[in-house]
This record gives sequence, C-alpha cells and structure tokens, in this order.
Amino acid sequence: MPTKILRIGLIGAGMAGQAHAFGYRNASMADPLRGVQVELAHVVDAFAPLAQDVAERYGFEKWGSSVDELLADPSIDAVSVALPNNQHVDVLTKVLASGKHVLTEKPLGLDGSQASQLAALAADPARKGTVDAVGFSYRRIPGLAALRDAVAEGAIGEILHFEASYYSDHAADPAVPFTWRFEASTSGGGALIDIGAHALDAIEFVVGPVREVQGANFATYITERKDATGTVRPVTNDDAAAVLLVAGRNAMGVLQTSRVAYGRPNALTLTVFGVRGSATFSTEDFNQFTIHLAEGDPRFDGPRRVITGPLHGAYSDVSSFRSRGVGTGYGEAFIAQVQAFLGCIVNGTQMETNFAAAAATMRILDAANEAAATGRAVPVETGAHA
Ligand SMILES: NC(=O)c1ccc[n+]([C@@H]2O[C@H](COP(=O)([O-])OP(=O)(O)OC[C@H]3O[C@@H](n4cnc5c(N)ncnc54)[C@H](O)[C@@H]3O)[C@@H](O)[C@H]2O)c1
Repeated sequence: MPTKILRIGLIGAGMAGQAHAFGYRNASMADPLRGVQVELAHVVDAFAPLAQDVAERYGFEKWGSSVDELLADPSIDAVSVALPNNQHVDVLTKVLASGKHVLTEKPLGLDGSQASQLAALAADPARKGTVDAVGFSYRRIPGLAALRDAVAEGAIGEILHFEASYYSDHAADPAVPFTWRFEASTSGGGALIDIGAHALDAIEFVVGPVREVQGANFATYITERKDATGTVRPVTNDDAAAVLLVAGRNAMGVLQTSRVAYGRPNALTLTVFGVRGSATFSTEDFNQFTIHLAEGDPRFDGPRRVITGPLHGAYSDVSSFRSRGVGTGYGEAFIAQVQAFLGCIVNGTQMETNFAAAAATMRILDAANEAAATGRAVPVETGAHA
C-alpha cells in the first residue's frame, strides 16, 4: 500500500522532457522512496501530437497543449518543466504561483537577471514548504560524485588547478537545421549556456564556487543555417567558448566547450589537480574515474582506474543490479535527479541545485559574456551554492 501518492505534470515533451518522464517512471528504484507512488498525470507541449505520443509511450493519464489547464488541476503535486530557454521566465512564473513543487531544466531563463527574478519568486514566503529545483543532471553520475567526495574529504588535498570541457558534435554539420538553440533571443547563448553550463556546474560541484571569470572567448564558425522551412537564418550565438576561471579556495582553471567538435559526440570531462594527487572523470568512460594519490613507492605509483559501484553517488538507487561494475548511463542520471527531487518533496527539504543556486550559475555565464566583451576579469558574487 502506498503511503504517499505524488502526481506529476510535465510541461515540454521534447528531448529533455522525455528524459524527465523516463526518470519518473523509474523513480521507485530508490529505497528512500519506498511507499511513494508516482503517478504520471498530465503532459503538455505546444505541439499537441508530441504530447499525445509521449503520453501514450510513457503512460501519462492526460495530454494537451494548455499549461494553464495543467496548473489548474489541484490533484497535481509537482511539475517538471523542459522548455526552450526563452519560455522559462513566463512559464516558471506561473508554475511558482500555482504553489506546486517544481523541477526545471537548466539554464534558469536566458540570463542572470531572469534567473534572479525567478529565484526571488521561488523564495516568496507563500511558497514555504514547496521545492524549487533545477536539473543539473551530471551531478547524479556516480563517477563525478566520486570526484566530489575525493575533493571534499581531502583525499587529493587542496585543489590547485583544474581543466573542464564539454564537447559535442550535435551542430558540427552545417546542414543541421536552425532551431531555437541557434538564436540568442530564444537560447540566451550557444554552446556555453547549453552544454558548457554542465561543465561549469561540475566545477562548482567538485572544486567549489566560481569566484572570478578572468577571461572568455566566444566563436561562431557556422554563421547561418536553414530552418525547417528552408529559410536561411543567421546563427546569433556561440559554437564554441573558452573561459578562464578561479574557483574554490583559489584554484585556477579553464573551461572549453564546443558544439562543433567532430569525434567527441557528447563528452564532459573534468580533471582536478590537488596538492596530494589528481583525479579525472569523463562521460566517455562513464562507469569509472581515475585517481592518483601521491604516496607510497614512487616506482609503482600512477593514476589508478576505479570502477564505480554502490559506494559512489546514487549508484544503488538507479543501477539495475546493486553490484560494482554493472554500471549506469546518462538515463540513470535523470532517474537519480527525479529521485532527489521527490525525496525533497517527501522530506520537506530543498535540492542543492535550487533556483537560488541556479541563479548564481547564470551570473557566472553573464560574467563570461562581460569578460569577453570588455577583455577584463569579472568577479562573481558567490554564496547561493550549497
Ligand atoms: N540536462 C540535460 O542533459 C538537458 C538535455 C537537453 C536539454 N536540456 C534543457 O531542457 C530544455 C528543453 O530542451 P530540449 O532539448 O528538450 O528542447 P526541445 O526543443 O527538444 O523541446 C522543447 C519542447 O517544448 C515545446 N514548447 C515550446 N514552448 C512551449 C510552451 N510555451 N508550452 C509548452 N510547450 C512548449 C516544444 O514544442 C518542444 O517540444 C532546455 O532548457 C535545455 O537547456 C537539458
């Protein structure tokens, strides 16, 4: 017998919305959610046939295209939002006003100003007791969580410097059609805000808050693309970016990102160098990480490959078998993210990536834009991060 029923609404049935649906369908794998029954109540998308398709494939009771109708349903407890970035501010304002728990996709709006506006609405005393969460899904990968543990527990000592990258080839072919992702007014930015934001979050997750953007460079290589109707449209945001950062206590590092990186279809990599060792995680070696501890006989030391298992992050809650080496994939990161969100609802807590934390991330992206425009270092206000 369920002790608690949580009814879910999903706004946006595209790529990320379907990953959320997959997460909700499998959320009950987590021990702490024993007794919680998740019901997929209603999915909406501006393109109604997509909402219908997703409802039928994932098992939502109802589908449609009206956000207002979904939010007016008092039986729905929690809402996931996975929309183009320019829709976030309007739709999330309504979701927050509805009093429902909310899990939304990164980035929070188009820029720091929209993100701060949403964080202020989320902090309204009228919403006390409701969860506001932003899905930085890469935090849920066991190998990256292991790096965080290694740094937090001092295994490799204070971090001196780091290197982060997120490469993708999803836009490398000039024939890839123009969508909202290639237009500044609908996306807020290109590779850096879309995928680089995950590498930025990985830096903050493992090393600590970003304190300064010391320099940034953005480039657009494919300057126009045809949209679905064949009309040629200018690309108005970055295909690639490089950012010089200071994070944690005083660690320096670089973040490189690109959506035109042939040969690296989807690769987030972070290496941290500390005073007693170093560690690396890459999504290209999803179920392992390497760690070098500068100790013992120097003739035999070297980076050690650790296969992930139940001792790492959310592994036990999402892996098909609770044994080391079986492994998890990116889909499981969405299960773990949904589990964390539902766990917060059940326990009356907030996720560490709440709206306030996500607004802080957006201020770093603003600082990168300012650094690129002025050629000057830009300090970043920290504090909202858990
Ligand atoms: N965490 C991740 O790994 C990850 C991956 C992909 C996308 N994202 C994020 O998810 C969000 C959505 O990206 P996507 O790739 O799913 O985009 P998408 O284009 O695949 O899907 C967006 C959907 O929203 C619908 N839509 C647009 N405006 C709407 C509105 N006002 N009301 C209802 N539906 C509306 C569109 O019809 C479309 O189906 C973005 O913010 C993106 O940054 C995150």
